[in-house]
This record gives sequence, C-alpha cells and structure tokens, in this order.
Amino acid sequence: METVVSGIRSTGNLHLGNYYGAIQNFIKMQHEYNCYFFIADLHSLTTHPTPANLHSNVKHVLVEYLAAGIDPEKATIYVQSDVPEVAELYLYLNMNAYLGELERSTSFKDKVRAQPDNVNAGLLTYPVLMAADIIIHKATKVPVGKDQEQHLEMARTFGNRFNRLYNNDYFPEPYAFSYGSNLVKIPGLDGKGKMGKSEGEANAVYLSDAPEIIRKKVMRAVTDSGPTVENQEKPQEIQNLFDLMKVVSTEDTYQHFDNLYNTMQVRYGDLKKQLAEDMVNATAPIRDRINEIANDSAYLSRVASLGAEKARESATKTIREVREIIGFRKF
Ligand code: TRP
Repeated sequence: METVVSGIRSTGNLHLGNYYGAIQNFIKMQHEYNCYFFIADLHSLTTHPTPANLHSNVKHVLVEYLAAGIDPEKATIYVQSDVPEVAELYLYLNMNAYLGELERSTSFKDKVRAQPDNVNAGLLTYPVLMAADIIIHKATKVPVGKDQEQHLEMARTFGNRFNRLYNNDYFPEPYAFSYGSNLVKIPGLDGKGKMGKSEGEANAVYLSDAPEIIRKKVMRAVTDSGPTVENQEKPQEIQNLFDLMKVVSTEDTYQHFDNLYNTMQVRYGDLKKQLAEDMVNATAPIRDRINEIANDSAYLSRVASLGAEKARESATKTIREVREIIGFRKF
C-alpha cells in the first residue's frame, strides 16, 4: 500500500473549502492508502501563538477532522509535536538545505512581505520541516493544493540530496496527489476567489458556524444587480454562488435557480435563502459531531495517543535507519 501524508496548519477552524476541497478526499483515501494526516503545530510556531491559543487551535483541527469523518482506526491522525523524530530529521535535512534556495521559495518571499518584523529562521526553513513531515514516513503521495507544489519540489530535492550524499536510494520521491477527477474548488462569499481564512471572516463558512451565522454570511454574499439579457454568462460573484449550490444543494434546486437566472426572473434574496438552508443542512451532522467530540476529552486523548503511537512507530524506524546511514555509531 502506498503511503499518503498530508498536514494542516493549526491556525483556526476548518471551512467548507477545507472540507469539500480536501477532507472529503482524505475520507475516501483512508480506505485505500496507508494514510497519515497530521496537525502541523510545529509549523504554527512561526507566528508565535500563546500557549493557550496553540492548544485550542490544535484541538479545533483534531475535533473537526474527526467530526468530518476521518477515522482514527483507518488513518493515522496525529499531532506533529507528538512525534519529536520529525524535528530530528528536520535538523539533519537542514544541513543540506541552502540559504539561496530557501530564500527563493515563493511562500517565504510572501511571508517576508506580509510580516517584515518577524522574518525568523523557522519561516526560512519551513519547507525543510515540511519535507521532514513527508519523507519521515517515506510517503510518495501528498494530497495538497496547487500552492504547495513548490514545497513538494523542495521535499524531493532534500530527499534526493540526502540519497546522493550517502550514495543510496533511501527516500522515495513524494508527489502531489489529486484523488479522482472531482477536485472541487470552493469559492468564498466575497465575490472573488476561493474560500479561505486569510480573506476575512465573512468570506468563509466554517464547519463549526451556527445556522444563524451561516445564514447571515450567505445573505451578505456579494451579488450584482441581476441579469440584463437572457442566458447571459454569469459574472464571477454570481457564478460563485451557483458553484456553492452545486456542492450543497440538490440538482433540482440548482436547475431551478439556473432557469430563473437564464430567464431573468431570479431573485438573489431567494437564491441566498435556499443556499443558506442547504449549507446549514449539509453541515448539520458535522456540526453536531463537533459539539459532541469537543466535550469528550477522554476520546480525544485516546485518539491523539493512538495516532502518536502509530506515527512514531514509522518515524522511529526511519530515524534509526537515517542515523545508521549518516554514521552515528554506538560506543
Ligand atoms: N504547508 C502546508 C500548508 O500550508 C501544511 C503542511 C505542513 C503540509 N507539512 C505538510 C502539507 C506536509 C502536506 C504535507 O497547507
């Protein structure tokens, strides 16, 4: 069975984009691959969270992963900091990661621009830690979005460089993995691009949002003043609402509003009301489970220790072999 690894930074709640764009695929993959899904709390340290925030952010992601249907009996779900071997491999890989290539990373340059007062070494070596996350399990498949393509290329570079340095083929190459052909893009509510947490609270609908909040956000979504000719192409902000409808509503509902649009009879208020109700219903089971699981600390603690145990089993094996390859010897 091939190994899949994916991580999510623990910086806030999961939204519909995370769910339909990634987690639904994880849920399918867990039956067919040896899957490791982890919460990247070490990565989150680049922004210096307070201890209380660090823990509650990790908890949110763990709870929401489980509520969305990732099964801890099938996939290995773990918290990155529970597996110190990752940090050890990161140290080894850092010895062969060069300043020039790290500075050229697009995500690093973006971060420098966004937070010029906090350009720390962790930010610079983020791609090295990410490489360690992946190759510690000798994973070959990494389900991530387009924005992570360069990081994956760096992971291959660091793994290959290790192999070359020690003249072996220890680490396999990891590649981005898009599962099936149904990679759905989930647009946000601001009339622009995809749903994301960095685009502001109102742009994203979170799995944990209460029904009233979902309704409020959807009713405020950006629209235009309506179609002016029959069967016209939809402007992006309207297309976005239809794209969301395609995901959460029935085919009949979608067709109904599509016809109204094409015959210039659409009323955006009605469309949004319907969309909000369908979103509320689509997320209801997850929301209920979030509330249940969040209050079950015994279960969370069981899941986290089981995941840490399984992840460490694989990670300690790699570290033992890597130490041997590097030349650390017992006296
Ligand atoms: N960099 C990824 C992101 O921003 C998160 C991540 C960290 C990750 N380590 C990983 C993803 C390893 C896949 C595999 O989304």
